[in-house]
Amino acid sequence: MINAHRLAHHLSVLAAIREADAPAHGTTRRAFTPAYLEGRQWLAARFAAAGLQVSIDAGGNLIGRLSGSDTTLPPIMIGSHSDTVMGGGSYDGALGVLGALEVAQTLNERGMRLRHPIEVVDFMAEESTPLGSLLGSTAMVAGLSDEHLARDVPGWGTLADALRRVGGDPAALKTPLRRAGDIKAYVEIHIEQGPRLERAGHALGAVTGIVGIRRADITCIGQPDHAGTASMDVRRDALAAVAQVITTAEHAALSRPGTVATVGALDVSPNQSNVIPGQVRFTVEMRSLDMHEVEAIWQEIYRAFDAACTQRQLSYTIHALHDSQPVVFAESMVATIDAACVAASGSSMRLPSGAGHDGSMIGLIAPAGMIFVRTLHGRSHCPEEYSAPADNLASVQALFETVRALDNG
Ligand code: GLV
Ligand code: MN
Ligand code: MN
Repeated sequence: MINAHRLAHHLSVLAAIREADAPAHGTTRRAFTPAYLEGRQWLAARFAAAGLQVSIDAGGNLIGRLSGSDTTLPPIMIGSHSDTVMGGGSYDGALGVLGALEVAQTLNERGMRLRHPIEVVDFMAEESTPLGSLLGSTAMVAGLSDEHLARDVPGWGTLADALRRVGGDPAALKTPLRRAGDIKAYVEIHIEQGPRLERAGHALGAVTGIVGIRRADITCIGQPDHAGTASMDVRRDALAAVAQVITTAEHAALSRPGTVATVGALDVSPNQSNVIPGQVRFTVEMRSLDMHEVEAIWQEIYRAFDAACTQRQLSYTIHALHDSQPVVFAESMVATIDAACVAASGSSMRLPSGAGHDGSMIGLIAPAGMIFVRTLHGRSHCPEEYSAPADNLASVQALFETVRALDNG
């Protein structure tokens, strides 16, 4: 019933739209870049060709709407994101947007009018950028603060300007775009990005919840000096203090099962072999289903970093980049999705998500749920990311069944 060929074709076309000067391997289509705008233009044309009414909301979210038979009912929202990380894969986000498009297009082609409208959404800037992450879904349910909109990052400009480039309207984000009751439910297909489905032998799974994430952007300031003549006791080496953060983060998360912590970006200045690092800008993030654990890890990292800075006479600034609470999806949503996964693929399992998703924001105002798809060797955020065409097709069938169940329920 679902057009498997079209789904696979769409995935390969979108994967080929990428930043020209990015790493040769994998797909790089970071939010706000020309390649991102080109990808969205292509998506908007696909939405229109599928018979959807296309718009971009004030939060920069690309939306394709299919009307329902009862004009008093709120929409069932389905979708994901078309931005990627640097050197990412072809499925993270893309599968969810194109799978949702396939559901809406199939409904339209078959003349199946649901009671609720369907909205296919490509959420703006889901992945981590220097301007923030989950930006479109945050704008949708909470608005964006003036302070956040004014954030100015070298090479990226302000968030307000970036938002205008993708068709958003920063001035309209003082209040949420949608409130409780405005969305019947939100469902997203996504690759699992981990090994659990593959290990258990299931193509699909129903997501039970999403981890909480805290992410900070930290600049540590010391003093550049000659690496040969400045003796060890007088150095103000910023990188030496950051090294404490990296090892403390690893140790703290290893000692707390179910948590992870990562220093993922590091910008060393002047970054030369014979100069003592005078300044380091880096990110640190912590994740867990239990926010107390996130807080405990952060405290451990902060204490080690602060002591390392005091010892070396370094100063620092800490800028919060992201703070999202863990989300537990409603049992009724998990059960509906679980049953649809079994119907589509013969089996299913329930599992939490270690990755962040827009569902954690939309879940604040509407029942939300996710369908996870088996991911080869659990690899993601890398060029090797892969989910098989048969599993992708099954996930769209499961979404189709879930949407029908929600429309009736
Ligand atoms: C999004 O992919 C995230 O989990 O960082
Ligand atoms: Mn991702
Ligand atoms: Mn994603």
